[in-house]
Amino acid sequence: MPHFLLVKVRESRRAGYRLSQAGNEASGSDLYVTLEPCSTTGRTPPCTDAIIKAGIRRVFVGCLDPNPAHAGRGVEILRSAGIETSSGIEEEQCRRLNEAFFKWITTRIPFVLLKMAMTLDGKTATEGGVSKWITGPAARMRVQKLRRWADAIMVGGETARVDRPSLNVRFPANWPFQPRRIVATSSMTEESLQELLPSGRTPEIFNYKKESWSDFLLRLGSENMTSLLIEGGSELAASALNAGIVDRIEFHVAPLLLGGKDSRPVLGGQSPVSLSEALKLKDLSIRKLGCDFIFSGRPER
Ligand SMILES: NC(=O)c1ccc[n+]([C@@H]2O[C@H](COP(=O)([O-])OP(=O)(O)OC[C@H]3O[C@@H](n4cnc5c(N)ncnc54)[C@H](OP(=O)(O)O)[C@@H]3O)[C@@H](O)[C@H]2O)c1
Repeated sequence: MPHFLLVKVRESRRAGYRLSQAGNEASGSDLYVTLEPCSTTGRTPPCTDAIIKAGIRRVFVGCLDPNPAHAGRGVEILRSAGIETSSGIEEEQCRRLNEAFFKWITTRIPFVLLKMAMTLDGKTATEGGVSKWITGPAARMRVQKLRRWADAIMVGGETARVDRPSLNVRFPANWPFQPRRIVATSSMTEESLQELLPSGRTPEIFNYKKESWSDFLLRLGSENMTSLLIEGGSELAASALNAGIVDRIEFHVAPLLLGGKDSRPVLGGQSPVSLSEALKLKDLSIRKLGCDFIFSGRPER
């Protein structure tokens, strides 16, 4: 009896990994993938090989590989192997799901997501820097999902010093694709950061006084990093937005009013003199998650 196999991964390059977990169960299945399975060896062997070997019966592809050198090849290989393959299934939604990979494959620059947690009056921490926890468990679980999505995570030097965040994926435990951990700092060394953030991948430095944002992103992109998640604090957030390198913001807004003129604002940096300096957002979406609200949008350039 044929059954369905949903490979729910951000990019189908990880499909081989999931398929191997399914073992014999995969044989005779219908496979749904958001992106055309790769047909070349990159960080993993070709997904098309894994699919053929697993005995998949039919493949439904969300969108074709945006890389013109590969577009359609994966589908062709599967069809030649006798696997019924269709493409363009829920294409728009799949494009959105794969927006990071699509940006990187066409520009070699990672997609940048800025995520901040804030109270309804726009505060991210008390004057003394206490920020745990502003949002509830569901929003914090969402952060785990974003970390699974990201190839690299970045925080500002002050956040590293005050919060000592793990910057790891903790859910599920033993996640095999831990992101790179980067701290924006001009005053700390990799050794001092290693002491501050001991468990996880060796922390790296973005020295914003020595390297521009654009050079930094080009460097990450050349190292095959497709997505960068910036998790604050407010000085780093403002710097990234002002540099125009943020592709999407995701603000988690808790139904709390903190008040206090010295509580930390969601965005630091220079104070604008005119409202016309405000950054406009487009493609805005708002949804409720647990007791919090998730605002997502793209800065207008
Ligand atoms: N609610 C949230 O979502 C959230 C998230 C993160 C943090 N927080 C809270 O926010 C507070 C820290 O935020 P913060 O705004 O004070 O500091 P921050 O943004 O975390 O870090 C500021 C530091 O980043 C470096 N930096 C300065 N200018 C920069 C630039 N133009 N580009 C890149 N890096 C630059 C500097 O490090 P060096 O001095 O080392 O050169 C500076 O001291 C903490 O209390 C933390 O708990 C809240």
